[in-house]
This record gives sequence, structure tokens and C-alpha cells, in this order.
Amino acid sequence: SANLFAVGSLTGKRVVITAGPTREAIDPVRYISNHSSGKMGYALAQACIEAGAHVTLISGPVHLPTPDRVQRVNVTSALQMLAASQQALAEGCDMFIATAAVADYRPAAVAEQKIKKQGDEIVIELVKNPDIVATIAQSTPRPFVLGFAAETQYVENYARAKLEAKKLDMIACNDVSRADIGFQSDDNAMTVFWRGGYQKLDKANKSLIARQLVALCVQQLSAINP
Ligand code: CTP
Ligand code: CA
Repeated sequence: SANLFAVGSLTGKRVVITAGPTREAIDPVRYISNHSSGKMGYALAQACIEAGAHVTLISGPVHLPTPDRVQRVNVTSALQMLAASQQALAEGCDMFIATAAVADYRPAAVAEQKIKKQGDEIVIELVKNPDIVATIAQSTPRPFVLGFAAETQYVENYARAKLEAKKLDMIACNDVSRADIGFQSDDNAMTVFWRGGYQKLDKANKSLIARQLVALCVQQLSAINP
């Protein structure tokens, strides 16, 4: 629809976006991470800029250029991403978009020196990272919060459970069992859920998906704050 590309639908709004993977140090030369490319978060940053927003992009290590006019904050670990998100929230945030593939666990302790090769097995103790999007969604005052979910099965049930558990306003879910979309791909297809409904977004490049997602957020934001 024409409304989809409406320029200025986020004028004066402050949007904070997390993107990319986090890296959790094991020792000075090793870490635990994942294959997130950051493309979806960067496409959303671009789409929000086009809609007139002020955008802060809190980014884990990725190989992507910063879109024009976006304020980028580089972080490495989940704990750093949480601290940067809370700081951005304190500076003012109307909409928080969590695309980051945050490592769920980090090593319980970071070895000060490179760990030497030992016996045939090694055990690394991991502890849970804080849930960044849930922390932001539970703060007061709270922004409009869009979360993401990557599921391989029971997509709608798991997505709706995350919407409730994390107190999100909206969740965009991609079926990562599909080989042709997601993570490293330039394309994506998703289903977006909110309390009162859902919308399927057909397979398209991440920039079009991003504009459609922003349009849905603007629609729900104005339904909440008419
Ligand atoms: N997320 C986050 N902080 C975490 C873990 C996840 O902010 N420590 C956010 C992601 O950015 C995403 C949403 O939570 O917007 C869902 O992430 P996902 O990995 O799908 O869900 P989890 O709650 O970690 O559950 P699981 O990995 O077991 O499916
Ligand atoms: Ca996870």
C-alpha cells in the first residue's frame, strides 16, 4: 500500500536497534558466537532513517557499512550490548527493535591467559546472559518493543509465547528451517505477531521486509498511542 513507504511516519521519534551477533570471550584469543550477519538490523536502521526517525544502532561485530545518519555504537559482548541499550533508553527511546542474535550463555569466567591444550576433553562452564529485549520491555517508561524470533518448529506457538514472556508489543518470526532465507541471506520471509493479530510478509529482500516491518510498527504504535 502507499502508506508502506510513507516518508516522515517516524519524524521526531527515537529508535534504538540491536543488531548482529555478540561474542563471549573464553580467553584472550577465543570466543563463543554465532553466524548472525546483522543484515536485518541494518536494513531496519535504514528504513527507520527513511521514515524520519533518529536511529541508534547498537551493533555487535559485523561486516556492514553504517547507513547514513545512523548513530552506531559498537559492542562485543551481551553485557556490553545491555549496558549500551540501557544508556540509549536513558537518552530517550520511543521504539526498541531487537534483531541481535545475543549469545544465550557466556563463559562463567574469562581466562586471563590463553588456555593451553590439555587432555582429550575440556569443559567450559557457561552462565546465562541477561535478556536484553525483556529487560528493556520491563522498564518504565517503556518504548514500543519489537522482538525477533528464529524458530525451526511450532513457529506461531513459540513466537506468541516469547511475545508474552518478554512483554513485547510485536514479534517478527522467521522459520530458520527454510534454507533459502534468514541469517546470512539477503532475503527474508516472516510472520509478525502482536496481541490482536498477525501478518505474513512474503519472501522479499531484507530492505523491503524492513520497510514493511516499520510500517506495521507505526500502525501498532498509533493504535497504542492514538
Ligand atoms: N534476546 C535478547 N537478549 C538475549 C536473548 C535474546 O535481547 N539474551 C532477544 C533477541 O534479540 C530477539 C528475541 O530476544 O529479539 C528472541 O531471541 P531468541 O534467541 O529467538 O529467543 P530466546 O529467548 O533466547 O529463546 P531460545 O533461543 O531458547 O529460542
Ligand atoms: Ca536465544
